[in-house]
Amino acid sequence: MGHKKTVSIIGAGNVGEHIASLLVLKGAVNIRMFDLPKKDGEKLYAHVKGKALDMLQMACALGIDTDIQGFVVDQEGNGYEALEGSDIVVITAGFPRKPGMSRDDLLGINISIMNTIATQIKKYAKNSVVIVVTNPVDIMTYSVYKLLGFDKKKVVGMAGVLDSSRFRTFISLELNVSPKDVHAYVIGGHGDEMVPLVSVSNVGGIPVSTLIDDKKIKELVERTRFGGGEIVDYMGTSAYHAPAASVVEMIESIALNAKRVLTCSVLLDDEASNYYEAQNLCVGVPVKLSEEGVEKIVKVPMTDYEKELWRKSVVSVKKNIAIADEFISKYI
Ligand code: NAI
Ligand code: 2OP
Repeated sequence: MGHKKTVSIIGAGNVGEHIASLLVLKGAVNIRMFDLPKKDGEKLYAHVKGKALDMLQMACALGIDTDIQGFVVDQEGNGYEALEGSDIVVITAGFPRKPGMSRDDLLGINISIMNTIATQIKKYAKNSVVIVVTNPVDIMTYSVYKLLGFDKKKVVGMAGVLDSSRFRTFISLELNVSPKDVHAYVIGGHGDEMVPLVSVSNVGGIPVSTLIDDKKIKELVERTRFGGGEIVDYMGTSAYHAPAASVVEMIESIALNAKRVLTCSVLLDDEASNYYEAQNLCVGVPVKLSEEGVEKIVKVPMTDYEKELWRKSVVSVKKNIAIADEFISKYI
């Protein structure tokens, strides 16, 4: 299996393990998972090893050749040797907000985790493309980019593929058509201010605005914006099937050099900064994803109204970037 690319997943919780499971089903890459031991009373479980073994046996039952292994790491950054030579590294590690913790506290904690992980990626996988999933994803992508010091093409955040899938799902349900023929795009920050781009969204090439009335489109846009919250309200925890599938779309485009155009959170280069009127932040825009990472940032046309929403979204991401810069400065 030497010719297959190696994907390492740091954090094998809900999202991480589902990414691994989908990758096993596709059978196209070697998989390494890394996670902390799980504490239950006095006992420490190497659950990441158990998950890998379980998925290896799943592959056997399905008749799929795969190579998946799990590794226990600690919070100080020990145990990452098997990252060596990874082509793609996915980061889903992090902690959710706990009662009494402010968003800024959470930012500080997750940036310190990103710093530990970035140090290991630099050591063992300095040629990899890194996909960041941990929330707040635009800020974590920016932090990982800064902490790694890699070329900006090599660090991408996942959110736009997920948000666009939610928008596409709602449009396909409304029109009772296959989601395969629904092309809809969500750009901006991964938060309440995200920007579903109605003007370029279409079904089989026909503009959505000619198929669904304005009032209904507004409802679908709102449902998309709060799509993550809708699932949290049902499950008491955040989504992981669609997020994992969205990461797998990105992995495939990179591993197979497929050059898909997918919305990802990236650091805007000069040309994109000029076009999108925003600098020094990671934010969701359509990009061409290849084995190099971000091969090109696509300039998507927007109406004046969409530009206004875009600017608002940028302002809300920028606020947290300023706070993140203070935490990051402790490490670099
Ligand atoms: P989870 O809690 O199930 O998994 C997180 C895993 O990270 C746990 O297994 C934990 O042990 C591990 N971890 C924590 N600190 C670590 C460290 N220092 N080193 C190695 N592993 C560590 O959470 P879930 O649901 O998998 O979500 C993961 C992250 O992804 C969260 O921040 C969540 O908000 C985010 N997310 C982002 C989405 C997006 O669109 N960007 C979509 C869904 C989730
Ligand atoms: C979502 O949108 C929690 O960011 C995650 O489902």
